[in-house]
Formats: sequence, structure tokens, C-alpha cells
Amino acid sequence: MLYLPFLLLVTACEASCLKTEPDVRSSIIPVLEKVTVFMENRYQDINLDAVLGFRVLQGYLKGALEKWPLEHELLAQRAQVESMIKKLSSLLEKATHSLVQNDPEYFKEFAPILGPHFWIFPHSWNQTDPLMAYSSFGSTNCFTEKMRDACFTYLLGTWKENGKSCIVTSACRNTMTKPACSNYCLSHQLLYFIFADVKGCSDHLFLKTQDYKNMFCASMMKINLEIEHNGFNISSRDLFMENIMLCGMSGFSDFYKLRWLEKILTWQMPKEGCFGEPSKELEHSSAVEDQKQLLRRVKRREKMFADGCSSHHTAVAAGSLGGFLYYHCS
Ligand SMILES: *[C@@H]1O[C@H](CO)[C@@H](O)[C@H](O)[C@H]1NC(C)=O
Ligand SMILES: *[C@@H]1O[C@H](CO)[C@@H](O)[C@H](O)[C@H]1NC(C)=O
Repeated sequence: MLYLPFLLLVTACEASCLKTEPDVRSSIIPVLEKVTVFMENRYQDINLDAVLGFRVLQGYLKGALEKWPLEHELLAQRAQVESMIKKLSSLLEKATHSLVQNDPEYFKEFAPILGPHFWIFPHSWNQTDPLMAYSSFGSTNCFTEKMRDACFTYLLGTWKENGKSCIVTSACRNTMTKPACSNYCLSHQLLYFIFADVKGCSDHLFLKTQDYKNMFCASMMKINLEIEHNGFNISSRDLFMENIMLCGMSGFSDFYKLRWLEKILTWQMPKEGCFGEPSKELEHSSAVEDQKQLLRRVKRREKMFADGCSSHHTAVAAGSLGGFLYYHCS
């Protein structure tokens, strides 16, 4: 009998997140509002990645609202989220319009993932199992961007006008399941399986989707813990947030650590509202080197603004923070 009130309390907290997580909402919402202002000022210039990250954010905000606790004191925050969703909708429409004009070919290939209803978010959660992580990593350049984009378009059906979707060539199967890939190659292998889920692809490769996700995300957790261990240096933050965005979306709740949330929140550039390079005073030669590498890596997808804002950093920050809000409030 003694245990009963305690149990009820625990259940109530899990359902509403009011008792345990009030600070999560009140710290994330203002940061996301600033990110939205950044978007407002730059929507003509942002690239495909930014639109993708903001679409993910918009989806998470909608999902969070559906589970929003009914407590009276949360009504003001609810209104803030509602207004952000509205603002994002119109901004995303305008940004997408600019994308079509700036890079129509690339846009066409990825149009399906930029729509408002593409992304699916988890309704149940699990954690990564460290035993499933790669014991060591091979190349960070497991495959070329060209190869990756080709495999994505075969899944999405955008490889030609009215193309069939869910095509898995043997080259794509080998590439996207190649073991021990690390960094962005690894996160893009996961993205491949996420796309297949959303498209409902039934190739026999996807019978093992959950196994691959378990392995990829356990390895991505290992990478993130190493990034943390190394002090979150500038060149690793973008990957760190991308891993949280994609594995969180795949249902692995151990990516939503409060101590990681607190870290990410400190990386926002206060004036611009974006994420990217810190101010010039803090910059040393290794950071410049890092940035050069970053620019080489992301090429067409990355857009670095003169004030240090990066559209890829900002997009993965938006997408991961949206996930934190959704997870901690659902
Ligand atoms: C949770 O994940 C582990 C491996 O990471 C898996 O073995 C287990 O079956 C999963 N549990 C559920 C309920 O999906
Ligand atoms: C930054 O961290 C990454 C990931 O942990 C590490 O591989 C890299 O060597 C570090 N770079 C610098 C400049 O410290």
C-alpha cells in the first residue's frame, strides 16, 4: 500500500513531464524562436539542408503539441510553439521556392523529403546497446557523395521523371550496409534506412532495418561519447548534432541526454540566432583548418555565411532540439 502513491506520482510525471522536465521546455523554446528569426532573415539564401532541418523541427513541434500537457501554466508556452509552427510554415514555403530557383536539378532529386508530411517520429523508445557498436571504425569516406545521392534518389523515385521508388541496386545495398563506416558516411547509411521506412519500401534488405539501426546508432553513440570526451571541439559539433537528430528520430532516447542538451544550447550565436563558427577572438588556426575541411566536405549542401552562421549546423541544431522537446514532453 505504501508504494501506491509513489507509483502514481511516477506515472503522472511520465505522462505529462511537468514535474521532471519544466526547464527543458523553457530553455529550448527561446532558442528555437531565435533560430526561426535567423531563418526569417535568410530564407532566400538557405540551402536544401536547412530546409530539411527546419521541416524536421516543424514536424517535432507539431508532434509535441499533440502531447502537450494540459496544465494551465503551460498555455503560454503552448501559444509560443503554435506561433512558431505558423511562422515556420510560411518561411518554409518561401525558402522552398528559392531552392527551386537556385538549384532546380538538386531540388527535384530531394523534393519528397522537403514536404511538410515526409518525416515520421517515434511513438515508442529504446536505447542503444553498446555491444552492437563497431569495435573499430574504418574510413570516414566510405563512399562518394555522388554514390550516396544516387542511392537516395533510387529510393525516393526521383532518379528520373516519374521514376519508380524503392529501387535497391546491388551497389547501393553494398554501400549502404558497408560495415565500420564512420562520421557522415555512417549517419547517411542510417538516413538511407529512414527514407526506406518513410517510403514503405519492401525490398528484402529492409527486413533487417531494425538490426541495421541498432548497429548504426550504437556506433553513432560511441562517436558522440568520444566527441564529448574530446571536449566538443568545433569541428565535431555538426556531426554530434546530426547523430542526435537521426538516431533520436529512429527511437533511441539515450541520445536525448540533458547534459548534451545543455551543451548544444550554449552553441547558439546569440546575435544571429544561428549555429556555426564562434566569434573571431576565439578562433585559432586549428579552427580555421577545421572550417576548410568542413567546406570541402559538405560542398553543395553547406552554406557558410559571412558572419559565421552555417546553414548545415543550424539545420541539425534545429532538428535535434526539436527532438529534445518532443521526447521530453511526450
Ligand atoms: C531495444 O534494443 C535492443 C538492442 O539495442 C533490442 O535487443 C531490443 O529488442 C529492443 N527492444 C524493443 C522493445 O524494441
Ligand atoms: C576533435 O574531436 C574529434 C572527435 O572526437 C577528434 O577526432 C579530432 O581529432 C578533434 N580535433 C581537434 C582539432 O582537436
